[in-house]
Amino acid sequence: MEERYAFLAEWYDPSATLLRRYQLLYYPKDGTVEMFDVKNQRIFLRRTKYDGLHQENLFIGSRVSVFSRQLNLIAYGDQYTANKLGSKKERTLAMIKPDAVTKLGDILQAIHAANLIVTKAKMTRLTENQAADFYVEHQSKPFFSNLVQFVSSGHLVAMELMGDEAISIWRRLLGPTDSTVAQREAQHSVRAQFGTDGVKNAGHGSDSVAAAARELEYFFPSTTGHGLSNTAKYTDCTCCIVKPHAILEGLTGKILNSISAAGFEISALQMFTLDQTNAEEFYEVYKGVVTEYPNMVAELCSGPCLALEICGTNTPKSFRGFCGPNDPGTARHVRPTTLRAIYGKDKVQNAVHCTDLPEDGLLEVQYFFKILDG
Ligand code: CMP
Repeated sequence: MEERYAFLAEWYDPSATLLRRYQLLYYPKDGTVEMFDVKNQRIFLRRTKYDGLHQENLFIGSRVSVFSRQLNLIAYGDQYTANKLGSKKERTLAMIKPDAVTKLGDILQAIHAANLIVTKAKMTRLTENQAADFYVEHQSKPFFSNLVQFVSSGHLVAMELMGDEAISIWRRLLGPTDSTVAQREAQHSVRAQFGTDGVKNAGHGSDSVAAAARELEYFFPSTTGHGLSNTAKYTDCTCCIVKPHAILEGLTGKILNSISAAGFEISALQMFTLDQTNAEEFYEVYKGVVTEYPNMVAELCSGPCLALEICGTNTPKSFRGFCGPNDPGTARHVRPTTLRAIYGKDKVQNAVHCTDLPEDGLLEVQYFFKILDG
């Protein structure tokens, strides 16, 4: 029998203001999808080829886009799917320490190559007390005060990684705890490349399912209002959004590397999943001005996006130039080295949004880092 994965999916129908439920079927062999309306017991979408679904994004809690409908996967549809896709799925905390934050692009490329996906991400800074709290199990160790001092010495990036055996795979990518040992025994590991010694060792990974649950709760609490602060500065800044399609295509690491290589400072970073209302609000100025507006809204809420605050004198103008013309086709002709020329596909899936008018930079940064991260 042909392999088939089944899910129960929910879609919020804005015109009827109700949640509709579908059985979503995905056939990995030919990348086709099929949907049934659960309540009305009828076919909603005949089996059709659709390139936007990828197996690694099919898990419970994920938001996927099928022909511009944002579906929340709320349950596996049968035991086969639960066993095949669910049984080895794990979540883990990946913490990029202050010595490796500027290498985040390279680290994200390694994460993508290992078939793990980033489901949450936030740049933050811990106080010494918070760092001591996080590492409380090591408080009697001789290296404790150095560790606390180092981890609270600058920005770090906390991420939730998800995938088959995510806990052990991320620890393998990190390499041995002591970076000098990593340099001898695992030369391509994160700690070998970006760490210095036992304390300055570039990253941290949870060592068990229980530790992952506790550590993820520390950085990404399930109750709202208890999260750690983001690092947005709100001065001389502009906003960049890595769009959902680029994240899905595994381009985040390359895009961050390009931004850093061009000399721009990423002063805040956070992953968000926008709903239709937020996306419409954020793109309000384009409504009635650009014909792509509805499709831009659909793209922005089709999955997680990564919001960045880019800081520096004259940044709004120079960063916009660096992103290139809106249309990647045009960009490839007139500005072939720009982000959109390299990573964009069309006017809607053009890899990144960036603030168009310098005076809107602060407002757009505030929309994500003050309002949505409230
Ligand atoms: P991490 O994965 O963050 O978990 C605990 C941290 O303690 C570890 O990485 C190191 O930074 C630090 N650590 C563990 N063992 C030693 C050691 N022997 N000497 C110095 N630091 C250590």
